[in-house]
Amino acid sequence: MKVLLVGDGARENALADALGSSPKGYKVYAVSSFINPGINEIVNKTGGKYFKGNINSPEFIKEVIREVNPDFGVIGPEDPLFHGVANAFREEGLPVVGPDKECAMIERSKVWMRELMWKYNIPGRLRFKAFSDLKEAINFILEYGGSIAVKPSEQVGGKGVKVVADLQAYLSQEKRNAIARGIDGIAGYVSDKVKIIVEEKVDGPEYTLHVLTDGYSFLPLPLAQDYKHAYEDGIGPETGGMGSISGPEYGLPFINDEEYKRSFEIVKMTAEAIKKEVGKDYIGILSGQMMLTGVWGPTIIEYYSRLGDPEASAIIPRIESDFGEVLELLATRRLNKAKIEVNPKPSVVRALAPLGYPLNRTMASNHRISVDLQKMRELGCKVYFGSVALEGMQLVTKGSRALEIVAIDEDFEKASDKLDKCLNYVSSDTKLIVRHDIGRTVREQVEKAEIVRYTYKSREAKGTLGVTADWSPNGGLW
Ligand code: GLY
Repeated sequence: MKVLLVGDGARENALADALGSSPKGYKVYAVSSFINPGINEIVNKTGGKYFKGNINSPEFIKEVIREVNPDFGVIGPEDPLFHGVANAFREEGLPVVGPDKECAMIERSKVWMRELMWKYNIPGRLRFKAFSDLKEAINFILEYGGSIAVKPSEQVGGKGVKVVADLQAYLSQEKRNAIARGIDGIAGYVSDKVKIIVEEKVDGPEYTLHVLTDGYSFLPLPLAQDYKHAYEDGIGPETGGMGSISGPEYGLPFINDEEYKRSFEIVKMTAEAIKKEVGKDYIGILSGQMMLTGVWGPTIIEYYSRLGDPEASAIIPRIESDFGEVLELLATRRLNKAKIEVNPKPSVVRALAPLGYPLNRTMASNHRISVDLQKMRELGCKVYFGSVALEGMQLVTKGSRALEIVAIDEDFEKASDKLDKCLNYVSSDTKLIVRHDIGRTVREQVEKAEIVRYTYKSREAKGTLGVTADWSPNGGLW
């Protein structure tokens, strides 16, 4: 059988790996904007073909579909989904992993997502307000303030901009200046479509729950956690993710079984609400980017309409059953036949990004990078190629996260030690940013979760879960 994979990052390398190593013997065809060396190896090994072009163009994808005539497709990133590439597959009569663009609104617009959660009474929903006018947003924040997060309503300028204002109501002028500075980062993106969204700010350990659904059945994947900030200890600008952890078993040490079940219920309810709202089944992967908060318990921060990256790199290598076949069963809407068996040992992923990422992509581009794959594999690490192209015989950075390296071991510390050794086998003519703390902060997060859990559990017992009076110092009007 032939499968056509869309996308060019480390997540797609992990998906290609699962498809290419399936006992079903899929021929992997790929389409991406550059030749990803990891995907290329799998395409060559399985006898497929690689196409280079605009992955956001449904017309171009249809041309590739007509040439390849695949049995099914898998779409990795969000942008092709937003542009209707899943619709294009289905218009050509082909099953595909990936929701139609109407359903992908759950990721594309935070306003759409939040309104949906309120309309359908889905638990774990944050209070928010959306503005098209900067001055109105600033006045609102000044008047009703407290701790808030300010974001653009749609992903803009890459992986989305987030600005958090944690402000003292009595410092009026300072507060006004701080808000103006914060919103400044978003102001340039505001348009007819993109609004400013102001949300209540929450705190707690974050985690990702991916749920596979074909519109009939729902199959959750093991939890993962993404490390978003560029530098160690969670400082620096937000990135697409500098690494991730998953496990042991199906969970994470700081999320208990009941919280896992509640999170699953929230994501399931959301998929069902999307169907009611747009009149189409959600066929693909719906990812809850969640936080355990004292106000709400399991809470949705945002949704992805696909696998997270680098979360996928932490989860896919832990799946011991045939994940390639699971993807086929999902695309062809027979997910009730799918099984997922997971290696109980946890995994740690670290991304390597050239200096300049994420704020200066030009600075992070066109650097040579060398990887001793053989040595890393001998040490027991897996390597997925991300934003790095094969140009002649040379690997050249493309401005984003170049590699994701994965280790699975008895515990997070041992997996992290393994990664430290593997990192000696990557070199570049630029500095590579890597977070060595990934996989080494689990205990702190367990402690943080205990405090948060105590808070939301006592609120729940008193019937005050989600009650807001303490959130807004000027009256709690939301
Ligand atoms: N982990 C962040 C993302 O997938 O966008």
